[in-house]
Amino acid sequence: MTPVTAVAQPNIALIKYWGNRDDALRLPAADSLSMTLDHPSVEITVDHSPALAVRSFGSDGTERALNEKMTARFATHLELTKRYLATLGSNAIPESVSVTVRSAIPQSIGLASSAAVFGCLAKAYAGLIAPKVNLTLEQQSVIGRLGSGSAARSLFGGFAALDAGEGGDIGASQARAIADEAHWSLHDFVIIPSVEEKKVGSTEGHAVAWTSPLYEARLEAIRTRRQRECVDAILRRDFEKLRSVTEDDALDMHRVMETSAPPLRYLTETTHAIRLGIEELRRGEHLELLYTMDAGPTVHLLCTDASRERAAAFAKAQKGCTIFETSIGPGARLVS
Ligand code: PMV
Repeated sequence: MTPVTAVAQPNIALIKYWGNRDDALRLPAADSLSMTLDHPSVEITVDHSPALAVRSFGSDGTERALNEKMTARFATHLELTKRYLATLGSNAIPESVSVTVRSAIPQSIGLASSAAVFGCLAKAYAGLIAPKVNLTLEQQSVIGRLGSGSAARSLFGGFAALDAGEGGDIGASQARAIADEAHWSLHDFVIIPSVEEKKVGSTEGHAVAWTSPLYEARLEAIRTRRQRECVDAILRRDFEKLRSVTEDDALDMHRVMETSAPPLRYLTETTHAIRLGIEELRRGEHLELLYTMDAGPTVHLLCTDASRERAAAFAKAQKGCTIFETSIGPGARLVS
């Protein structure tokens, strides 16, 4: 067999995935939904190897040292992938593999690199075993999910939902396409106030979600209403509806985080100043702008084509922030 290379991009969640019903299997407690971005990209080459070997490089070719925790995460992911494939009646994945990651995602800029990495790795594994077994995109999304829940959604371009599913089976939760990247031209100005490493990563964060007194109500809102409203807004290209449900959900997730034990405070004063600035700007000019924040102080300013120039000007005017501009993009794909 020859080596296989895949490429993938991060996604930005509109309905956030926060908390699992099974942490080890990364079975989410609720549905989530996101938009896949067109860059920055991660490229991964996988090949057969006598022992698991993972190496990571930046886009300039310099090697990025992987700590023990990260290496262990790849090892666990490979074992879980074998377990999942066994449930499909396949033992096609090699005992051990070499994984070479080349990432154009600057470290810690608040763009979920684990989503792109494990989405890309899932695609590469699917390519490696393709001569023996053909996985559907939904099955590939399970492999992504086993490394990072949000990665399941990066297998798809455009808008994708991760369905929580039911029960404890390893494959019970899968992602699916809502609409492809040609459906609606949206952009994401990533406004990064700080490039500090986050103190508590999302894997640890998910585990304490249930300790928040607000968590059950969050799950209920997503189950009964929010996910459906978000899908509708996308299918109808109704920006105002998308804005309202996306911002509600992001602020709700952060209230859950801030009231969990221990409390997780990812948003800073700068984050709040930026999001209030966005509210003020669109109030005055009726612009199609919305904000959302993941597990960090970074603000994602999403907009339509019509509001793009004003969004760019706003983003660039944010003092002391690094700006990264990206648009809706394709799902993970094989390149060789
Ligand atoms: O995929 P994880 O385990 O890194 O979790 C992602 C969590 C959020 O980015 C906060 C939300 C999301 O749905 O992407």
